[in-house]
Amino acid sequence: MAIRTQLARLGLFDAKVPRYTSYPTAPHFAGDVGPDRFGEWIGAVPEGGNISLYLHVPFCRRLCWFCACRTQGTATAKPVEAYVETLQAELKLLRKALPPGVKLSRLHWGGGTPTLLSPDMMSRLIGEIRETADFAEHAEFSVEIDPNEIDAARLDALAAGGMNRASIGVQDFDEQIQEAIGRPQGYDVTRKAIEMIRERGVASLNTDILFGLPHQTRARITETVQKLLSFAPDRVALYGYAHVPWMAKRQQMIPSDMLPTPQERLDLFETARRLFVWDGYAEIGIDHFAVPGDGLAIAQKTGKLRRNFQGYTDDTSEVLIGLGASSISRFPQGYAQNAPSTSAYTGAIREGRFATSRGHTFKGEDKLRGRLIEALMCDFRIDADEIVAGYGVSREWLFRTFRDTAAAFDNLLEVTEDGLYLPEKTRPLTRMVARTFDAYDLSKAGHSSAI
Ligand SMILES: C[S@@+](CC[C@H](N)C(=O)[O-])C[C@H]1O[C@@H](n2cnc3c(N)ncnc32)[C@H](O)[C@@H]1O
Ligand code: SF4
Repeated sequence: MAIRTQLARLGLFDAKVPRYTSYPTAPHFAGDVGPDRFGEWIGAVPEGGNISLYLHVPFCRRLCWFCACRTQGTATAKPVEAYVETLQAELKLLRKALPPGVKLSRLHWGGGTPTLLSPDMMSRLIGEIRETADFAEHAEFSVEIDPNEIDAARLDALAAGGMNRASIGVQDFDEQIQEAIGRPQGYDVTRKAIEMIRERGVASLNTDILFGLPHQTRARITETVQKLLSFAPDRVALYGYAHVPWMAKRQQMIPSDMLPTPQERLDLFETARRLFVWDGYAEIGIDHFAVPGDGLAIAQKTGKLRRNFQGYTDDTSEVLIGLGASSISRFPQGYAQNAPSTSAYTGAIREGRFATSRGHTFKGEDKLRGRLIEALMCDFRIDADEIVAGYGVSREWLFRTFRDTAAAFDNLLEVTEDGLYLPEKTRPLTRMVARTFDAYDLSKAGHSSAI
């Protein structure tokens, strides 16, 4: 049977499989984690230890039709100013609860569009963050930048605050595609933004592009990738466009009949993937590429690549604290998510308490299954020795599980004496294989327990 047909039969085009940026995934979070539990977990961060911060800005000046992110349009500065004041208050609460001497390993601003903040708002937030924790040695401060929503003054404020990685949204350079997805962005606008970023000595550049967009063809994605490569980005995220108009209502503006078929999507991904690889980029997990000297490429080579809410990371800190509406924090004890609506989030912080509304406390096999999934998503293999040594399971159970998994995928996966391995041709199935280790996935029948 042709491999494509076989992969399709094994669930390749099942759009509902999670991207596993956490385990369990956010839809399985529940209300038993609230502000008190969050406060306890913050208090348990080791004195002088490293943490990372994610700061969410849920506003955009324009709302692109394709976008499935949690964000709201705003034409004025008023709601943004109120939000920034709330973030400052949240940072003050955090400062009181954190043990002394904590250092920042990573700081990421995402959204929405963090670059719609004014230079003054940016500087205030950076000041508040630095009073909460100093940057650790080799810390990274990255910001998601919309090239249509940036200027010299705002870049100056970010660079002065220590931004050393910029992440810019491109999606596609083709004008007809841009029109169809409601995201006009001339090539020169992107080029100018990149020049301004580099002029300020920002060492590293990430870019996002999408495959599976309306009107996209092999020829068009080839041209987009070639244009992107002319900027020599350090990292590229090549995300599959998720068309979920029942959730993201603005996607109803996108003509569904212009979307590529699942088979065409696979071709588009393959076309772009080959171009990046030909150009010397290392493949990072399921949807990223990085130049060989980049932190992600090094982490992948040394088995230190990890998965978190921003996708792939080389961050080694065990605590990631999410600030702002809907942000998710991760601790060794579990996950905690802030209230998703800006008004509920603001209300809680204004009353002087954390805005945690739900989450998950790790129990039973969570950490084991989380690691099995993470290893597949990062390395396309699971190392049996690591799992047996780190998670107290028997080799018998582990190998029985590997053999069952391989059998469920027509034995296209390899079980060796070292563990489970996904050969290159099966990698499009990675998320589907990962799902077989997901005990919370309701669509599956029973599991054999490891413990
Ligand atoms: C939340 S946006 C923030 C970036 C910034 N506001 C901008 O527009 O450049 C981050 C990235 O999410 C990705 N994204 C948004 N909607 C998506 C969708 N429906 N499917 C796949 N990726 C999507 C895009 O690649 C986008 O660059
Ligand atoms: S892609 Fe960026 S600018 Fe466009 S709606 Fe999404 S977050 Fe806002």
